Amino acid sequence: MTGERIRPIRRGAAGEVEIIDQTLLPHRFVLRRLETLEDAAEAIEAMRVRGAPLIGATAAYGMALAAAEEAGDAGLAAARTRLARARPTAINLLWALDEMAAHLAPLSVGERAAAAFARADAIAEEDVAICAAIGEHGLAIFRDILAAKPAGARLNVLTHCNAGRLATVDWGTATAPIYKAYEAGLPIHVWVDETRPRNQGASLTAWELAERGVPHTVVPDNTGGHLMQHGMVDVVIVGTDRTTADGDVCNKIGTYLKALAAHDNGVPFYVALPSPTIDFRVADGVAEIPIEQRAAEEVSHMTGMTGDGRVETVRIVPEGARVANYGFDVTPARLVTGLVTERGVIAADRAALVAAFPEAARAAGRIG
Ligand code: MRU
Repeated sequence: MTGERIRPIRRGAAGEVEIIDQTLLPHRFVLRRLETLEDAAEAIEAMRVRGAPLIGATAAYGMALAAAEEAGDAGLAAARTRLARARPTAINLLWALDEMAAHLAPLSVGERAAAAFARADAIAEEDVAICAAIGEHGLAIFRDILAAKPAGARLNVLTHCNAGRLATVDWGTATAPIYKAYEAGLPIHVWVDETRPRNQGASLTAWELAERGVPHTVVPDNTGGHLMQHGMVDVVIVGTDRTTADGDVCNKIGTYLKALAAHDNGVPFYVALPSPTIDFRVADGVAEIPIEQRAAEEVSHMTGMTGDGRVETVRIVPEGARVANYGFDVTPARLVTGLVTERGVIAADRAALVAAFPEAARAAGRIG
């Protein structure tokens, strides 16, 4: 089913790297070719590709494109530095760069370009498998929640931002259980937070849920608390850009407020967590995770389609108004009901993370 859709990053018939330019969705669907390291870095910076796993996959292809240009140690080190500064918060970027560096270092210069593309392809396919497994584990949670409701009731899921297929190579993380549930015939409905300022919910999540026919409703970001107070949300599931060794979760700005509202209303709050998004080197998310600050124009202006089909950008604040644009916030582990990983649903704490992913914890020096 998912194979019929164009992935947000893919290799073309001649091996070229192509992305969906997500800055143009939902109004225009445009594929764009990445031909150089700089193309890949720019695509991440400009958020033509975004979402932690997809940023990681794009960085891997960026290293492969760099290896095709200059595969010597100095060239690859420079490429790594360039890509690493493209966006600061999603740890998948550094994870993918480390994976590529470790893979290429022992090889001769002549072997590196082909090996780099092969490893980038593998990283992309690994992401698809991880997300599919998250979908199965999340589906079991959804089934249990639905089973506790009166017969014939629908399952109302709330999600924030886009942790969907467009944020990964396929399936999405938070959306994977939603798609699995829909395919299994569960009566599911999704509340989609619009997710100001870039509107990834309104523009991207709504687009991809519609692509599959999953029933959904876009709501302003401030609506979730009201919905929860009135019993209209059965479960919240979101993605993550970085999860600490102690289970703190950093995700799109506004996630924390949804977790607080969920906690206050007894609504389960799950985080879909692919293992490359765990950063075992940090523990306290609020203190240690770098939070991206983006351009003021993302807040002061909005882009949309006019009645006659033109895409236009307009200012929505008084001229000269100061604005702040923090991209992410941290939800403390105590507000997280569970982490839905590719190895099962675990508690948001150090013991559970280390038990589920001992090899990653060991590599980060968290266990002997
Ligand atoms: O700024 P973005 O659009 O890259 O932010 C994306 C998110 O916050 C997602 O929820 C997160 O990357 C998880 S994606 C599976």
